[in-house]
Amino acid sequence: MSTFSLNGLELGVATAATQVEGGEIDTNWHRWAKMPGRIADSSTPARAADHWNRVDEDIELLRRLGVKHYRMGLEWARIEPAPGVYSLEALGHYVDELTKLREAGITPLVTLHHFNNPGWLESTGAWARSHTIGVFERYVYRVMEAFQGLVTDWVTINEPNVYATKAYLAGDWPPGHKSLPEAVRVMEHLSYAHIIAYKLIHDMVPDARVGVAHHLRAFRPSRKWHPIDQVAHFGMDYLFQSVIMRAMSLVRFRAPLKQPQHVRPGKYYDFQGINYYTPSEVRNLREGPGRGVPVNDLGWEIYPEGIAELARSVSKDYPGPIYITENGTADANDSFRPLFIHDHLKQLVESELPIERYYYWCFTDNWEWAEGEEPRFGLLGLDYDTQERVWRDSAAFYADIIANDGVTEDAYQRWVASRAYNTN
Ligand code: FCB
Repeated sequence: MSTFSLNGLELGVATAATQVEGGEIDTNWHRWAKMPGRIADSSTPARAADHWNRVDEDIELLRRLGVKHYRMGLEWARIEPAPGVYSLEALGHYVDELTKLREAGITPLVTLHHFNNPGWLESTGAWARSHTIGVFERYVYRVMEAFQGLVTDWVTINEPNVYATKAYLAGDWPPGHKSLPEAVRVMEHLSYAHIIAYKLIHDMVPDARVGVAHHLRAFRPSRKWHPIDQVAHFGMDYLFQSVIMRAMSLVRFRAPLKQPQHVRPGKYYDFQGINYYTPSEVRNLREGPGRGVPVNDLGWEIYPEGIAELARSVSKDYPGPIYITENGTADANDSFRPLFIHDHLKQLVESELPIERYYYWCFTDNWEWAEGEEPRFGLLGLDYDTQERVWRDSAAFYADIIANDGVTEDAYQRWVASRAYNTN
């Protein structure tokens, strides 16, 4: 069936501060982008989507899309430009934005940490040091105090596994370290930071909904019969995602993470956030896309079934609501994105799992970390020079799904039927 109803699934869009706000801010990423050779197209986050100056215009576009939910991040460096110094101006700016979102009938889901550290924190070791947990707690407290009555839904940490491995193991992201023990330490510190923030947020807003946006891959062995591929795909699943999800959600730390002494096991999530983009085929201890499979502009394999497979396994281990906190694709010509959205939503609604929300990544094109401005993930396109937002077919399709509470036959014929994926 190509048409379906959303069955209560609520749609939103997601962004992250460093990827859309723009501005010359002293963050780990602004510093990194100024070093030669770090960003594929040599761009920096200084222009991004200039969202900081275009809040009204962007809220108007969100209204036009008809989304009920908007996931947005905070730029910690704006809020705390020097250690212990908080900017009332920056907090006020976010309060203003949140108030306007609420007035537009859009529920904000606020991300406290999305790969972005203030420059001063980066200089003193950031997440490799346990000291940062207390610094993060103090920042969360200040944010909570300022946002009273405006926010109930929180993501404490975005993709702790991706951050720890890219920044501290592969060395591709700031601070560019390549150390396994350090990456493990970073995972431990991010886990404690989440647990502490979870408690703090609930102390201040008892009915808050707090979770982590976990990056999950659908790992599969390349050769089902091959012992190395078999063991390696389980190993990667465990080390890359299961171990940290368990530590953060239940305070059950398993090797290589060490169980903290001072926190009791319990339930530290109100929803499980899943960021899903691609599966990973594992062959001889390496992972990547399969061969002859659909891929996006970045060569990431497209496998819609993966989103339901992962949600099913999360739901089994962690009863409760699931939010798809990110799902999207890089497609500069918007040639297959509507099909991608259709196929992933269909998997979700047909799964009969307690998936309550879906946030498309990304609202507009945005600065894609080490890949720079090149990949185009937006429902809306962006002309970086003029900052003009372009209403892609994908945006029209998404708005239509929301307006009709599902994909109608008309919508399917108009936006999906003639589209196809590219294969590798
Ligand atoms: C996720 C990140 C998000 C964006 C998408 C494409 O891993 O959370 O910021 O970069 O990938």
